[in-house]
Amino acid sequence: MLPNQAEANQPHYPFSLPNLPYAKEALAPHYSPESFDYHHGKHHQAYVTNLNKLLETNSALQSKSLEALIMDAAGKAEAVGIFNNAAQIWNHSFFWHCMKPQGGGKPSGALFAQIEKDFGSFETFAEQFKTGGATQFGSGWVWLVLDNGTLKVVKTANAELPMTKNQHALLTADVWEHAYYIDYRNRRPDYLAIFLEQLVNWEFAEKNYQRALQG
Ligand code: FE2
Repeated sequence: MLPNQAEANQPHYPFSLPNLPYAKEALAPHYSPESFDYHHGKHHQAYVTNLNKLLETNSALQSKSLEALIMDAAGKAEAVGIFNNAAQIWNHSFFWHCMKPQGGGKPSGALFAQIEKDFGSFETFAEQFKTGGATQFGSGWVWLVLDNGTLKVVKTANAELPMTKNQHALLTADVWEHAYYIDYRNRRPDYLAIFLEQLVNWEFAEKNYQRALQG
């Protein structure tokens, strides 16, 4: 089953760089315009350029959605280039929505209640999320997912993402060095703490949670 995550999916080739859901100055000083210039304008753009190039001469794949390409390519050695670039387009498109101006704090309603139930407390969730991101060796992502009805913190390496394990992504933080090096240098734990305290967009996670419950 594909997640059909509207903010991150795209219907078919040629793929494009989605606009940020806020101005590149909107998250300063916690996430700077310069970071967006590189992270969105260079890195995210490069994945889009690379995937379009890989599909340029492959008409059979040009009608597939971004999510279908990811699921079809997952685990296939001959499709690793398509998987990596398609998944990184999806991951970044999703990630921009995980932050917002005046973000931070806690979720509300049903998501908050299930976090308290599955983790014991919101604070335990926050610690697991920060520790998960800080201990991901090398490049990757830390996620809050709904896995078979249970909320979990999981981490993935490189371009890997929850949908290939049939988990619903609710929230993510990018822990590739390119995500934080301009603003935080090597201090990944500080970046993750600020992400939760000042940037996280719980309304987006709540929307994903409701979708996941229905799907
Ligand atoms: Fe990134």
